[in-house]
Amino acid sequence: MDVYILAIESSCDETSMAIVKNGKEVISLVIASQMDTHALYGGVVPEIASRMHTEAITMVLEETLKKAQMKIEDMSAIAVTCKPGLTGSLIVGIEAAKTLALMYDKPLIGVNHLIGHIYANNIENEMEFPMLALVVSGGHTELLIMEDDYKFKKLGETLDDAIGECYDKVARVLDLKYPGGPNVEKLALEGEHNYDLPHPVMDDTYNFSYSGLKSAVINLVHNSKQRGEEINRADLACSFQEVAIDELTRKVEKAFRETNIKRLVVAGGVSANKYLKGEMQKLCDKYEAQLLIPRLLYCTDNAAMIGAAAYPLYLRKEFSDFSLNASSIGDI
Ligand code: KG4
Ligand code: ZN
Repeated sequence: MDVYILAIESSCDETSMAIVKNGKEVISLVIASQMDTHALYGGVVPEIASRMHTEAITMVLEETLKKAQMKIEDMSAIAVTCKPGLTGSLIVGIEAAKTLALMYDKPLIGVNHLIGHIYANNIENEMEFPMLALVVSGGHTELLIMEDDYKFKKLGETLDDAIGECYDKVARVLDLKYPGGPNVEKLALEGEHNYDLPHPVMDDTYNFSYSGLKSAVINLVHNSKQRGEEINRADLACSFQEVAIDELTRKVEKAFRETNIKRLVVAGGVSANKYLKGEMQKLCDKYEAQLLIPRLLYCTDNAAMIGAAAYPLYLRKEFSDFSLNASSIGDI
């Protein structure tokens, strides 16, 4: 029998719901973005985010059902992101999911947001195991081996900032609007790699580090301003991006060499970056490995990926009870 999962995602600044059939077919997807509001403040304001989720959630539910021409009664389960994320934002989605599960007597499935990002790769492609998974989002940078559904072995993670966070900070000093990542990428296209920025060197581990690179860019901009010198913003964006992505490719290359695994999936908001995609493709060609990166719509936060990640849990009947709670932390 077909499995229809109503999935809810509200971990940051997108209120999203989706109906996903058998973990793969997106029947409907609605994303209400708060981006324009947070852009006024230069970043996500948690209190505003949770209030806006509350305001949007009923409308998002109605639209998701309408688009699919389905009713909650038709659903097999209700899935919801429970960690990691902004606690106040997560709670709005969790409360909605609990209410629906209780009212309509449906199983409740709590999903890890980062695992959701990985399963976004299973929507239009077929993930095959074992595979390497590189998670690059606003709050996380992790490299994992995935041996099977929900079987993870972490190779390494960032010791300080996440790569997305670093993109956002660099965008700020370059006077680019929030969200920083896509704007840094755009500006970098107009420049060349002419600035000498520090590469973190820890080649014997799988861990990442971004705080040194971030500080170097911030200091360079501040020092230039103090001296009244012009900086070439496009060149600096380009140099930053190349060094930031090089940090990823070096560690993925080490993993290809040492594990002999021939598959790589990239997940999380930064996977929307075309330069990253190009560099990962070159690396996969070199090691004759298969590369999966989701379509742009499924790279950044959306509920379809939560429906996809909930499906294996549904099959195993790994349901959550009504004590399900939000957590700001939740590494894989
Ligand atoms: O996964 P996501 O949508 O939210 C979190 O789970 O954090 O990731 C958001 C992050 C932000 O830091 C954003 O600047 C970055 O992903 N991002 C990008 C691009 N699009 C989004 N970074 C670089 N290039 C992009 N095109
Ligand atoms: Zn995300």
